[in-house]
Amino acid sequence: MDNSHMPDADTIRTAVSLAVRAPSVHNTQPWLWRIGDESINLYADRSLHLRHTDPDQRDLMLSCGAALHHVRIALAALGWRSVVHRFPNPADKDHVAALELHRRQPTQHEIALAAAIPRRRTDRRHYSAWPVPPEYLARLGEAAENEGVVFRVLESQSRFAELIREAVDLHTTDAAYQAELATWSGRHGSPEGVPSQNTPLAEVTAEGISARRFAWPALSPAPGTDAASDEAEIIMLTTASDDVLSRLRSGEASSAVMLEATALGLASCPITEPLEVRATREAVQNDVLHDTGVPQIAVRVGWAHINADPLPPTPRRAVDDFIRPLGA
Ligand SMILES: Cc1cc2nc3c(=O)[nH]c(=O)nc-3n(C[C@H](O)[C@H](O)[C@H](O)COP(=O)(O)O)c2cc1C
Repeated sequence: MDNSHMPDADTIRTAVSLAVRAPSVHNTQPWLWRIGDESINLYADRSLHLRHTDPDQRDLMLSCGAALHHVRIALAALGWRSVVHRFPNPADKDHVAALELHRRQPTQHEIALAAAIPRRRTDRRHYSAWPVPPEYLARLGEAAENEGVVFRVLESQSRFAELIREAVDLHTTDAAYQAELATWSGRHGSPEGVPSQNTPLAEVTAEGISARRFAWPALSPAPGTDAASDEAEIIMLTTASDDVLSRLRSGEASSAVMLEATALGLASCPITEPLEVRATREAVQNDVLHDTGVPQIAVRVGWAHINADPLPPTPRRAVDDFIRPLGA
């Protein structure tokens, strides 16, 4: 077989090991990798769909998009450029992408982004008083726009903060949402779900931005951090329409933004709770974005506080759980 278009099995395994470090909603890792003779294929694993958190399956597709961008970066750093066919099979909606590969020397930038993969963490704590330099925001914007997604930095966070609170209130009285959250968080030593050690008690910024309230939070605030001096920026990724391709692309863009942020030394945290509830999502679109686009995912970025300890990595399932030959 001519293998100039296909990496060897060890290289593929390395790339997939990096791809599964991608962020995913509640750390569900809702993806499968199927390896063909001439392609690497990403499938959505809908058995891991969170029905009550993510009724539209937006977060599931965003998560698959993040994994797709992670694998592209990992392969690029290993010397393989991907040509991506998104949703290549109209008869199989779970077939998210087929990657054809071509040998190419990695760029320094691709290596820096791949090196950021194991270092990135969802950091839900307060950030420091240091502002994010405009040229860094411009770099993040370029990363998102290269993925075909519109990037905005919220000038005022107050209405978005109100809508987060509304979504949190609606979720507080939603027993099915709470049951799902309790199943998928508050964990210790589990290879999936959100561990207690990564979730702080509700830390609300002076602007009123709060992280999701996971079950059994156990991450103590770093000494000296407080809401008033948290200078995080909120980035919103938007698309013109709300089809599945837009959601996938937004997931890729969110990964591009978070890896770029990590490479620049910034902390980051996705925020999707207000976009999971129809009423608050529509209000974000109308009141925050003035109907200029469909909100897909928000990301908070800033400098971790100097007293904040590095966060432990959130575990993942074993890579062999995800890899199968195509057609098996
Ligand atoms: C689509 C999507 C939505 C997410 N929404 C939130 C959120 O609303 N609040 C939050 O604290 N984390 C959110 N996360 C972060 C995940 O909980 C996190 O990626 C996962 O627990 C794995 O941890 P890690 O990112 O540190 O590797 C989201 C991630 C993705 C991909």
